[in-house]
Amino acid sequence: MNIVEVATSRRTCKAFDASRKLPEESLAALRTVLRFTPSSVNSQPWHFVMAASHATKEKIAATLDGAYAYNASKVRNASHVLVMCARADLDDVHLDRVLAQEEADDRFQVPEAKTMQNNTRRYYVGLHRQNQTLDVWIEHQVYIALGTVLQAAGALGIDACPMEGIDAQAIDAVLGLPEQGLRCVVLVALGYHGADDINAKLPKSRLPETALFTEL
Ligand SMILES: Cc1cc2nc3c(=O)[nH]c(=O)nc-3n(C[C@H](O)[C@H](O)[C@H](O)COP(=O)(O)O)c2cc1C
Repeated sequence: MNIVEVATSRRTCKAFDASRKLPEESLAALRTVLRFTPSSVNSQPWHFVMAASHATKEKIAATLDGAYAYNASKVRNASHVLVMCARADLDDVHLDRVLAQEEADDRFQVPEAKTMQNNTRRYYVGLHRQNQTLDVWIEHQVYIALGTVLQAAGALGIDACPMEGIDAQAIDAVLGLPEQGLRCVVLVALGYHGADDINAKLPKSRLPETALFTEL
């Protein structure tokens, strides 16, 4: 499938077949795609929790009541639920770790390049901290990973349901995320659609190109 076929054929899955599990090779491919998601100044300000067990999916599903109850069955019946987390902070430990990884990956041909990269990254982190936009900036990066993983799932023949209809703080609490310096931003249920997935049969709907693009 080429990229246009993926974009026009993938659909949000509204009902999963609870009997079907993703094979390890698909999960490995998704992990690779997530790991290689680009981020501003290569900050990689995220962490991904893959809920695979019945117990963990049930813990998450139990937080989805009230206005979010419509998403609970997706979490319960999906093969896996990806909890896309933001780092609560971009502290020295994280920034030093990213820099050390870049060095180990041979990114710096001269010492000045390492200094420049470190200074540039710290400049942007400092700017967003000062402007009180650090959390929003980090979330933007997590959403790049969301878009990336949704397209990848489509290419791999995996059905996915991104979910913002969640109580992120309740999920933080049941998974103990704050204790790990993390917070939940968005979920993605992953697996294969069931016969009752009405969205699988509906045509996709998007505004026309004329409404979206301006050529100057
Ligand atoms: C950030 C984001 C949050 C979403 N949240 C939910 C959700 O909580 N529950 C749900 O059933 N669908 C959710 N969706 C799915 C959208 O409704 C869906 O992507 C949109 O209608 C376009 O349809 P398509 O994905 O089938 O092309 C979400 C999608 C995105 C990108």
